[in-house]
Amino acid sequence: MSSYIIKGGNKLEGKVKISGSKNSSLPIIAASILNAGKTTLYNVPNIQDTQKMYEILRTLGATVEKKNNKVIIDTSKIDKYEIPDLLMHKMRSSVILVGALVGRYHKATFSYPGGCDIGSRPIDLHLKAFEKLGITTSQNYGNIMCTCDKIKGEKINLDFPSVGATENAILASVLSEGTTTITNAAQEPEISDLQNFLNKMGAKIKGAGTTEIQIEGVKKLKDVSYNIMPDRIEAGTFLCMAGMTNGNVELQNVNPNHIIPIITKLEEAGCKIEVEKSTIKIIGPKKLKAIDIKTMPYPGFPTDMQSIFGAMLVTAKGTSVIIENIFENRFKIMQELNKMGARITIEGKSAVIRGVRKIYGATVNATDLRGGAALVAAGLIARGITIATNIEFVLRGYEQFDKKLQSLGANIEISKEI
Ligand code: UD1
Repeated sequence: MSSYIIKGGNKLEGKVKISGSKNSSLPIIAASILNAGKTTLYNVPNIQDTQKMYEILRTLGATVEKKNNKVIIDTSKIDKYEIPDLLMHKMRSSVILVGALVGRYHKATFSYPGGCDIGSRPIDLHLKAFEKLGITTSQNYGNIMCTCDKIKGEKINLDFPSVGATENAILASVLSEGTTTITNAAQEPEISDLQNFLNKMGAKIKGAGTTEIQIEGVKKLKDVSYNIMPDRIEAGTFLCMAGMTNGNVELQNVNPNHIIPIITKLEEAGCKIEVEKSTIKIIGPKKLKAIDIKTMPYPGFPTDMQSIFGAMLVTAKGTSVIIENIFENRFKIMQELNKMGARITIEGKSAVIRGVRKIYGATVNATDLRGGAALVAAGLIARGITIATNIEFVLRGYEQFDKKLQSLGANIEISKEI
């Protein structure tokens, strides 16, 4: 188990380049299966989750070559359709491979996916969407089998705008007969990135970014090169860390349009923000003001930013309330923040954060990816040393997190001994 050791008290200052989006890369890497050929991707983050995705693709028979943030995937020799149990458990996003496998080969076998412990995270909406498309899903000893003779375009209305279910429904429909319409679709920017990638590959998809997406099935796809969009959650994380340390930071390689709800809340808390085409400058105030937050599907405030905002608000002036509407276990990290002297109480879906003057370094444990980042954020403003354990969660989703923070003046190191 690795840990971050953080000595608090330094302001973050300088420039930081935001990496490519984790949540775009994973479905796009999966989507490469749909074309029996080569996909070249740029700006892919070098993180544990993308590595695991390559590992799964290799076990299916694909080749993956990687140089820095460029990845070349050749899927022409895929000859297995079963996602290994162990890899499936390591990462929830592996479920996204099912839509691509069944879309191209009309068969896929997998087990229930793993990932961060932030809630029950069922996959019923994915399976319902598959069944609507004529795919038979059956379960046997925890394994799920998806098979069909052909996929026929259909109308799919999602009970909830699930990001993963929207992506899986798109992937399964790209090579179908006829047209699929997804209503109550997720509107996240990552869905638009997937649409843009697939259309460049020869698919016919429109509507991503709205609640209705139309996929006209095509017979064949072609080799493609694609540049992954910037990671909006990594951008939000650095903005919060700059804001809470009274810092002065410029983010480069960002799409400000994707983080409007984050910018709005940071301004409400007293940060000064200047936005340009692909850069954002932030100056944090001496003392942040308390704010209220409700997580919602996009374009609402993202659940992935909730823990980091929680860490940011522990020393704000006044009482903040965060309401979590997407994942029920995302408040686990608040107990860890309390070990550092924060005053947070949880009542169902709400966390009430009473601002304190100071928090103090402690040994705290990451329980999920964004929660882990929140502990690092808290460590930056804590008096003394914070040891954040179990940071494998953070390595899943942030590229060179410690290096980027060091370049901004933070005192942070990784320790592998603990
Ligand atoms: C994706 C993101 C994750 C983000 C989340 C919400 C990736 C790799 N992960 O996760 O970082 O926090 O969107 O923005 O892109 N649900 C069901 N049944 C289903 C599917 C989902 O009930 O079949 C529920 C979930 O339990 C949750 C809600 O729908 O309460 C949203 O989940 P979903 O949008 O599917 O999130 P993910 O795609 O897993």
